[in-house]
Parts: sequence; C-alpha cells; structure tokens
Amino acid sequence: MKDLLGIRHLDKTEIMTILETAKIMKQRILQKELRQDNLANNTLITLFYENSTRTKISFDTAALYQGMKIMSLDINTSSVQKGETLVDTGVTLDSMGIDFMVIRHSMSGASHLLAKNVKASVINAGDGANEHPTQALLDLFTMWEKKGSFEDLNVTIVGDINHSRVVRSNVFGLKKLGANVTLAGAGTLVSKGMEALGANVTHDIKEAITDADVVMGLRIQMERQKGGMFPNLREYSQIYGIDQEIFSLAKSDAILMHPAPVNRGVELMPELIDSPVSVIDEQVQRKVL
Ligand code: CP
Repeated sequence: MKDLLGIRHLDKTEIMTILETAKIMKQRILQKELRQDNLANNTLITLFYENSTRTKISFDTAALYQGMKIMSLDINTSSVQKGETLVDTGVTLDSMGIDFMVIRHSMSGASHLLAKNVKASVINAGDGANEHPTQALLDLFTMWEKKGSFEDLNVTIVGDINHSRVVRSNVFGLKKLGANVTLAGAGTLVSKGMEALGANVTHDIKEAITDADVVMGLRIQMERQKGGMFPNLREYSQIYGIDQEIFSLAKSDAILMHPAPVNRGVELMPELIDSPVSVIDEQVQRKVL
C-alpha cells in the first residue's frame, strides 16, 4: 500500500494489523523507547491547507519517534498564494525527493488527487467532508482498549454528521469490525442517505443514546455550513447537546468520545466533558501513543 487515503478501502485484517501494531508501539513509547530509526533516512512534509492542532502536531511527533526528517509547508507564505495548483505543489515537492506527504485540505478527494500525481506516499489528514482515516484509527484504538471487542458494540455518533469526515471514516471502520452504528442529530445535519453506509439514522437523541456502549459527539462545523441548518447554537444545544441526564440513558459503563476541538456547551456540556466517563483526552493521547 503506497498511500493511506481512507478507511473505506481497508479490510478488517488490515485495520486490526494497524491497531495491533499501534498497541506494540504504544508500549515502547510509554517505556521511553521513543526513537526507532528504521525510517531515519526518510523525509516527511506536512501540507495543511486547513487549520489543525492535534493532527499536525501528532504527525510531527510520530515522525520524530521514527527518526524521520520533518518539514512543514507554510501554506500562507508558499507559492500556493501565487495560484500554484495542488498537483504542481505536489510534483515540485516530489522532485525534491520527499518520501511522505501528509495533507489536509478542504476539498474532498484532494489527497487522492495528490497521490495519483506523486511518487511519495500520501497520508490523508482530512479531506473536506470525505474521510479522516488517522482520526478514525485512533478512535477505533481507543474503543478497542476500553471495550475489548467491536463485535455488537453499540456506537452512537451525534452531531453534524453530514459535514463530518470523521464520521465517514469511523462508520467504514466500525461496520467492518462488527459494531452497530447509530447516527443522530437534527434533520438538516443527518441525511437518511447516511444509511447507505450501513448505519442506523435517527433524529431522536434519546432513542439514539439508549443502551449505547460508546457515545461520540461531533463538532458543529460552522465553516462548512451554508447557514440555516438550525435557528441558533443555543436552540441546537437545548435539543441535541449531550448532558449528564441524556448520557445516563447509555449503558452504565458507556464512554464519551469526541474527535475535538469541542464546542463546549454546544454538542457536549462541560460537566460531562470533565467527568470520568469522558475519554476525550485519551483520544488525543492515542494520536501519538
Ligand atoms: N480532531 C482533529 O482532527 O483535530 P485538529 O483539527 O486539531 O487536527
């Protein structure tokens, strides 16, 4: 496999191989065996056309752990501002002998376009509303650690489903691993068409959370919405915000997840984010260990 562009094209064995490898690497990192120099002669460049904190820094950290040489293209001061196309930027970097390109872009399919045009291995760090495979892999790893198995695990994802690349990658992975997935939220944010991915769709948040093993909140992505999806954030949070009362409908040992950044008080209430059921900080930690 030259590239990692999504979870859609991975099979169950490939996903579990990645998770099992991550388990071994996590132990090494926790034991401070940080450096593995098997990629020491490789170069990696991050191309973030959209903002990021967690994903960008976790790729930098992971590459450091592998002994790689890391670079970052500053999109704001690069020739992208002179109108250079994504393919031309990629081909230019390819000519310089870069081995790995990590790309985040607002356009769905951007990582596929880049991968087709460069010899370097391309890793998708989020493309539009399409996929965010590394986020899903760390989410799957967190669920696997906490719950032990995916078979018949009830996973409920609530929020801005239609605009979420995280949800697509998670649904592809969870369905292949045997979990039951329910997608919930306002009618304007969760299309019935999402059922084609193999998930249940509901607009009743109480029904969605009842008996869930895992509840994942998703950020309202104002930057991708055209407006008019709901009256205002206050009204949205009154109906679809998850608080302790609604969360208590899930199983007694249920965990709360969110890919972050979180809009505190909108999709999740602060007292729940900061409570013991929340594994949000552990998800961030799983990006690098
Ligand atoms: N979850 C996630 O992708 O976070 P960043 O946007 O901070 O990278």
